[in-house]
Amino acid sequence: MNPKFAKLSKAILFNSPFRKYIFPTYTSKFTPPQLCFLCKCIADTQHIEGAIAEIGCGNGCTTVFLNKYMDAQKIDKAYYGIDTFSGIVSDDIRFEVTNRGKTKELFTGFQANKKKWFDETMRRNKITRIQSVEADVNKFDLTTIGSLSFALIDVGLYRPIKKALPELYKILSPGGIIIVDDCDPTDTHWDGADQAYKEFMKELGLDTQIIYGKLGIIKKVT
Ligand SMILES: C[S@@+](CC[C@H](N)C(=O)[O-])C[C@H]1O[C@@H](n2cnc3c(N)ncnc32)[C@H](O)[C@@H]1O
Repeated sequence: MNPKFAKLSKAILFNSPFRKYIFPTYTSKFTPPQLCFLCKCIADTQHIEGAIAEIGCGNGCTTVFLNKYMDAQKIDKAYYGIDTFSGIVSDDIRFEVTNRGKTKELFTGFQANKKKWFDETMRRNKITRIQSVEADVNKFDLTTIGSLSFALIDVGLYRPIKKALPELYKILSPGGIIIVDDCDPTDTHWDGADQAYKEFMKELGLDTQIIYGKLGIIKKVT
């Protein structure tokens, strides 16, 4: 190959968006210990009655990982993926701005998504147990999905988590676990999750337990 052309091709490749397919980068929002912990929660609750739910499943990155873990461990349960699939809702942003001292520019992410893209991601990864639900958790009655053995709530903001936790807890089977992501009071962006988690644990009369820096644990004993 002409050396000048080879140099030019290399320069184009290094600056193109396709570069990430040649030099893979870590894309999970969870660290490996956090992901291992979520897998352990699924393993520990596999014989508990009920399905699994991920509230705020986004583009399906964690959904794929956890479902591949379930496949490998032969854990067969229904798995609900619930999201607006269009990002944070305006009422939640308004709440953060009016009551929690945030600016609306903080919450513009996750809009580039669609339920059909999430479903296609599951199809391409040969995951068939997922039931995706397009809903705003402020308006969707989570108790209608039936009993749960494990739930991960990952919607970041105070208002939807405050509303969702009592509903998730109501349908959580005894022995089940709920994990609330972003329970980090030093995170000035997503600290609404931490506030909602701590208020809920106080209402239950339980001690808070936050692991790996941000995973709030709720266990239902009876
Ligand atoms: C951090 S992302 C989820 C990431 C995903 N769990 C993962 O690990 O790949 C947060 C998601 O919460 C969703 N979300 C935010 N507010 C919501 C609401 N009120 N109802 C439903 N989904 C919401 C957003 O659309 C976004 O996809």
